[in-house]
Amino acid sequence: MTSSDIPVIAIDGPTASGKGTVAQRVAKTLGFHYLDSGALYRLVALSALRRNTPLSDEDALADLAGKLPCTFDGEKILLAEEDVSNALRAEEVGNAASRIAALPTVRQALSELQLRFRKLPGLVADGRDMGTVIFPQADLKVFLTASVAARAQRRYKQLIEKGFSANMHDLLKDLAERDARDVNRAVAPLKPAEDAYLLDTSDMTADQAVEQVLQWYAALKK
Ligand code: CDP
Repeated sequence: MTSSDIPVIAIDGPTASGKGTVAQRVAKTLGFHYLDSGALYRLVALSALRRNTPLSDEDALADLAGKLPCTFDGEKILLAEEDVSNALRAEEVGNAASRIAALPTVRQALSELQLRFRKLPGLVADGRDMGTVIFPQADLKVFLTASVAARAQRRYKQLIEKGFSANMHDLLKDLAERDARDVNRAVAPLKPAEDAYLLDTSDMTADQAVEQVLQWYAALKK
């Protein structure tokens, strides 16, 4: 058996579209592994911020990405032994991650690491380029969207729940800037794969979205 025989479900979409929640629940239901690829960009960002590495120093950032001492332990994400799961969710880190993600050598350095998550019995991977660049042969590709208003609401709730302060005005501005960066960058821009199923979750609960993804996957397996 080669790694290309191991099933992959790729779930891509813009910031705060609910990909993470949906992908995690789909993985749990199927007993599959889960890759939060955004967390890798956030880990590079957090390391860079802590070391005062300028976000314009592509070589230094690619070097950080290539040597990232990270461990994924269930829901916990460790950076050299330290649990950084909460620190990674800060808006400052997300913003830096979105800038760093435009750098081709950083993306290249993280690509190998992402491929290693493809293990039996299968993988659910979420991000921006799971179906287009990292796992172009994924068995199922889903592109999750939601209106800007719905996404801002979700991000607001998520931040407050994690104990961060948040304000709607800044969040909306932030969301628009991040969308623009993700869509317009030269490498791996955010776009649905040609063979992706589109799912607008603006008026859906997370459970309904999970159900839809599971149905698509079950239909493919028939
Ligand atoms: O929570 P949110 O969806 O905003 O972000 P995330 O999925 O944690 O990813 C953080 C940043 O990394 C995003 O703003 C993207 O620019 C970038 N990213 C990427 O370029 N490619 C991926 N596969 C995943 C994330």
